[in-house]
Amino acid sequence: MSNRVRKAVFPAGGLGTRFLPATKVIPKEMLALVDKPIIQYGVEEAIASGIEHIIFVTGRGKGAMEDHFDISYELDATLERKGKKELLALSRSISSLARISYVRQKEPLGLGHAVLCAKELVGDEPFAVILPDDVIEAEPPCLKQMIDVFDERGGSVLATQTVEGPGISAYGVLAGSQDAHNVRIYNCTGMVEKPKFEDAPSKQAIIGRYVLTPRVFELLEKTTPGAGGEIQLTDGIMALLKEEKVFGYTFKGRRFDAGDKFGMLQATVEFALKRPEFADKFREYLKGLAL
Ligand code: G1P
Repeated sequence: MSNRVRKAVFPAGGLGTRFLPATKVIPKEMLALVDKPIIQYGVEEAIASGIEHIIFVTGRGKGAMEDHFDISYELDATLERKGKKELLALSRSISSLARISYVRQKEPLGLGHAVLCAKELVGDEPFAVILPDDVIEAEPPCLKQMIDVFDERGGSVLATQTVEGPGISAYGVLAGSQDAHNVRIYNCTGMVEKPKFEDAPSKQAIIGRYVLTPRVFELLEKTTPGAGGEIQLTDGIMALLKEEKVFGYTFKGRRFDAGDKFGMLQATVEFALKRPEFADKFREYLKGLAL
């Protein structure tokens, strides 16, 4: 068994109802943040974190995602004929980003079930999970920071963020205490998926990045439907916690919920302001708005 984190699972079977009508036909993972589909941000983060093999758990209607990471013969041939070298290089670079495998989640039974669908492709080794809706801007990349904690502590690691107020009910929430040696590490003693505000055990919300040991697959097989009637990843990790150490990790960086309309608007403005080719022009435009 390899103890290196080499594989990343991307659950991407969801219907994207939070983003209707845009997602009626287009997979939510393919919505563009500035000029790049949100899933590509996650894939680039995984690769920059040392991941060698990407596993997409997809579902009906997600064909555009598979095409995006494949060679587009017609597009490449046209760009070549027209001498558009930079665009050709861009198109080709996407199809050679990583080794990608696909597995279908046939029924939308929940996030835990989606991760379980990748069991055979992951095998008996630790792996990462990236929820593509969560776009994280960080240096070093968020997943790299987490893999470093995993390598040092030898237990599963969940990305966390402090969430104040009733908004905590949208997340998995950790119970436990801050580590004595590292303020970013939280020693978990429990966790609960989408608690009521008054029942939340802490302000430590789980964000869409996980480094998990393969034992979680066997536990997910036994996990029964929880919050929302779905097989929850949080419940599988809760079972793992009874056998192994699990850590929360407050990553250095900023997270945007690009699966939400408002979160996508925030990310669009902030990412656009960082693009050298139009940052100045865009800043001037924003300043000129009568707000
Ligand atoms: C999922 C997880 C939840 C986590 C969240 C982070 O929920 O079930 O524990 O806090 O992602 O984005 P979802 O957003 O899919 O409802």
